[in-house]
Amino acid sequence: MAKTKVAKASNVGPNQMIGVEIKGGFVLVANVNGKYYGMQGICSHAGGHLWEGKLMEFVVKCPRHGSEYDVRTGKVLKGPWVPFGKAHDLPVYNITVEGDDLFADLP
Ligand code: FES
Repeated sequence: MAKTKVAKASNVGPNQMIGVEIKGGFVLVANVNGKYYGMQGICSHAGGHLWEGKLMEFVVKCPRHGSEYDVRTGKVLKGPWVPFGKAHDLPVYNITVEGDDLFADLP
């Protein structure tokens, strides 16, 4: 794991999420009640940008077809299983805060 700076905490307000492009992929960073969570930002169903969807407490809803993930675990909670195949769980990344900087433990 590599501790990688992903965002400024001040840019991720309470109950908001952002997408950050890193190493050719996207990491979603969410602030749920003041705690930060990191998850792969691309939906496993058909590539939706999850940070452009809705954040409802710990649930991230994909803007494309509505799959839902738990941002704490990356688990699929609900999803359309067709026409692009079944959505699957996404990797999550521990986020640490140092001052105003957010770091993710990335593979
Ligand atoms: S791309 Fe996310 S639900 Fe289809």
